[in-house]
Amino acid sequence: MNKKLFPSIAFGLLGVIVAGGAISSCVKSVAGGDDKDNVEARIEALLSQMTIEEKIGQLNQLTGTGANPQRLAEVRNGFVGSLLNEVDPDTVNKLQREAVENSRLGIPLIVARDVIHGFKTIFPIPLGQASSWDPALIEEGARVAADEASSVGVRWTFSPMVDVSRDARWGRIAESFGEDPYLASTLGVAMVKGYQGEDMTQPNTMAACVKHFVGYGASEGGKDYNTTWIPEPHLRDVYLPPFHACADAGAATFMCSFNDINGMPTNADTHLMRDILRDEWGWDGVMCSDWNSIGQLVPQGYSADLKDAAEAAAKAGVDVDMMSYAYVSHMKDLVEQGKVSEKTLDDLVRNVLRLKFRLGLFENPYVDTANARRFYTEGNLAAAQHAAEQSAILLKNEGGVLPLKPGVRVALTGPMMDAKHDQNGTWSFDAEKEHTVTVLDAFNDMYGKDKVVAAPGLTYSRDTDKAGIAQAVVKARTADVIVFVCGEEAVLSGEAHCRTDLTLPGAQKEMLKALKATGKPVVSVVMTGRPMEINDVVANSDAILYCFHPGTMGGPAIANVLSGSVNPSGHLPAGIPRASAQAPLYYSHKNTGRPAEGMVLMDELPQEAGQTSTGCTSFYMDCGDGALYPFGYGLSYTDFSYGPVVLSTDKMDAKDGSIRATCEIENTGSVKGATVAQLYVRDVVGSLCRPVKELKGFEKIELAPGEKRTVSFTLTPDDLAFHNARSERVTEPGEFRVWIAQDSASGESKSFTVE
Ligand code: GLC
Repeated sequence: MNKKLFPSIAFGLLGVIVAGGAISSCVKSVAGGDDKDNVEARIEALLSQMTIEEKIGQLNQLTGTGANPQRLAEVRNGFVGSLLNEVDPDTVNKLQREAVENSRLGIPLIVARDVIHGFKTIFPIPLGQASSWDPALIEEGARVAADEASSVGVRWTFSPMVDVSRDARWGRIAESFGEDPYLASTLGVAMVKGYQGEDMTQPNTMAACVKHFVGYGASEGGKDYNTTWIPEPHLRDVYLPPFHACADAGAATFMCSFNDINGMPTNADTHLMRDILRDEWGWDGVMCSDWNSIGQLVPQGYSADLKDAAEAAAKAGVDVDMMSYAYVSHMKDLVEQGKVSEKTLDDLVRNVLRLKFRLGLFENPYVDTANARRFYTEGNLAAAQHAAEQSAILLKNEGGVLPLKPGVRVALTGPMMDAKHDQNGTWSFDAEKEHTVTVLDAFNDMYGKDKVVAAPGLTYSRDTDKAGIAQAVVKARTADVIVFVCGEEAVLSGEAHCRTDLTLPGAQKEMLKALKATGKPVVSVVMTGRPMEINDVVANSDAILYCFHPGTMGGPAIANVLSGSVNPSGHLPAGIPRASAQAPLYYSHKNTGRPAEGMVLMDELPQEAGQTSTGCTSFYMDCGDGALYPFGYGLSYTDFSYGPVVLSTDKMDAKDGSIRATCEIENTGSVKGATVAQLYVRDVVGSLCRPVKELKGFEKIELAPGEKRTVSFTLTPDDLAFHNARSERVTEPGEFRVWIAQDSASGESKSFTVE
């Protein structure tokens, strides 16, 4: 799309600039008033001075092109209200000075960036951070990201992504908090708080952007941007809750998604964007489109052309148009033709101005260049390492192979062992790979180069050249234990990076078999952006540590966990499949009328087996049913014993009752460790079929050897509510079951009734 000022807009703006010099000083004084409390009054005072062109300009978001003359003119003429992808503080200040000092009304710009899991100090990808089950840790990571990014002028991040993701074929599961609405809600709120802090006018904060509103994780076939089919009760029970939680937590902005829901694109969905988000929830933040998502209403077959798309999006309540130029091209005509009311336009602008006031940009528009580029501080790196340590998930540990014994001779191998770029994972635009501390770096530091024999065998995850495997095997034979760091390059997950085969790419499977054939103990570290199909890894490894791309300090984190100086405490935020084709896969499934039982797998069937010989229940003949490692699963170097669930009563009054559920947990092992006590509930009978389990609470606790502690959760009728066939939120009477367990597939339940 040609970026020069559009004739109608350009002429209008220039005309006003020439005539309105006197306006700007009085308006600026009003706009720049020091009374932060009556933001609404300041909005109205400013809005009343704005021309229609200036209003439309506030809704226009463009990607950064530097402070070149054309862009400076666009800023000066009020053609753009926010920019994304400008990360040089001097450039940001130059553009901001043009807006504040040389435009007619002096309305500051907002600069945005995808700061998804760190800016320069890269934390584990969100799916990795979710594995920590630690909201405080995630809040800290977001605070670090906000401090680093705001130090170059970024005051708006397009994060957290809270799309419930149950299909590992979808590359964007990497950016999510996994498959469960409760976990995604809790962690999404933590990230919002970390970005926005207690006072968003502080220059080291960023406006959060909760995305992608909504249902994007249900993209059919796990194929990005695809259609979704989500009945409204299901939308309200599974996909909306994390957004609602973040809205209630004060998230400043949302981003609408690329997908349609049941044929209605979210960018045009008035019911979703106005009835639910604005009217039901009372949210008054900024709804930003995704990149050209308004323009995509045309190829989606909802709008005939860009003008129609602009009308649909404006009416639905998309405040900011990211990179489709729909609003700057057509909004003035739409208003003059009465297709979009002036009030509708004004309301969109009000939301944008409110955000700018809330960010304190009128009082404090510039980057403090004397204190810019606050990157890689000791504290930031330590926080990133801690996050990576807490996110590592021990899936298997047989024969006591982990933790590695002191003095052990390690053969370090695999394509991800020294992956300075790929260790950071997807959406790490501003990472500098020279700062990445890899597993090899960390092992050399920890054991001494003379103790570590290193040979990657393969040079990258998709590498099919097996020539290097032989050398790796030779070196492995000289060691006591093999550490095979495998997985996916960063580019194999993230946006538009969907896969149908979730097994290790390239020749990694063959390499692992060759390593196993040495007879040495094999520890596999899987470094990836998604739950993968790892049957080969399980069959050929004595121990498995699963690390969703762990970021800058992933190497030391992994070395500390393998050495035992950190006891792993990660738990899966999404189940590991038995087969790629199981997707979508999630623990909170419906029971069906024939739940899997008595499974007879196809390899067990005799020839000419009878039609009903597999038992006619709900499972796959070639892999069975359920996850290989379920949601919530994670081992430790110690053991935990969970006692029975104890309920304060076995009856709950449907209106105002509550039940306390407790469980005594003991560390029965020999080292200190942390476990995640998870509270699950089942509504046994409902007016709609209900899931077999739903997470309703969790608590990560650390216990010394022999220590016991009782965890306690309180359930109320509201915790048991769901949306019935009429999309009404109800808590229905009847039997409920409660678990307090260390994953979604274990533990014994206790029952109570709601009356
Ligand atoms: C992308 C993504 C969105 C991101 C935006 C800006 O297409 O869908 O998550 O924030 O564009 O980069």
